[in-house]
Amino acid sequence: MARTFFVGGNFKLNGSKQSIKEIVDRLNKASLPENVEVVICPPAAYLDSTVQEVKAKQVTVGAQNVYSKASGAFTGENSVDQIKDLGAKWVILGHSERRTYFGEDDKIVAEKTKFALDNGVPVILCIGETFEEKNAGITLDVVERQLNAVIAQVKDWTNVVIAYEPVWAIGTGLAATAEDAQDIHASIRKFLAGKLGEKVASETRILYGGSANGANASSFKDKADVDGFLVGGASLKPEFVDIINSRN
Ligand code: G3P
Repeated sequence: MARTFFVGGNFKLNGSKQSIKEIVDRLNKASLPENVEVVICPPAAYLDSTVQEVKAKQVTVGAQNVYSKASGAFTGENSVDQIKDLGAKWVILGHSERRTYFGEDDKIVAEKTKFALDNGVPVILCIGETFEEKNAGITLDVVERQLNAVIAQVKDWTNVVIAYEPVWAIGTGLAATAEDAQDIHASIRKFLAGKLGEKVASETRILYGGSANGANASSFKDKADVDGFLVGGASLKPEFVDIINSRN
């Protein structure tokens, strides 16, 4: 089956109400492909205003994190119920910055993923190896370990999009080559087939993230297992539209 091209914009801890409005206005005015799914993920403080401003039918809004409980004494966390209340339709989980800076290990990522899915919030699940792990030749061991933790808790992968984000490519300007990304994505899809069956493996979208930009996005166009992008820095810039249109 054809997997719908998916482009996520992870704004991270960047932007203001005005600058995010300008990004949304640009998307609302842009000529975007009919069959693309775009999810922009502003800081939680701007979820409400961003949802109100989005008009383009291909664009929805997501959060960058949720906790594995819906309410209670969890200062500073985001609630699945509250992001849904604001109109968010997705959440990014397992991002390497959450894993590195906020101590989110595989178990925590799996618990959050299960909780979000159980509460009706589709998940962009981030996996990826560090520079040291790449150089040690254990990239597949790492991404399979990260996926196994979620597979142990999540049986229905209908609402999961995987983002393969080599940590060494995030924010560095040094994207993986399209060929290397394709090789890893194909291995991830084969792993999923072995664990969850061919149907799930063929239907699950696998995004590339890590210095994707308007200049390199089209090089991934003919890579059969690259179903889109999870974009950081370039999602804040006009070239984000070029990335969305890179399959044209
Ligand atoms: O989640 C996407 C992000 O980690 C990629 O960042 O700036 O390298 O596109 P960037």
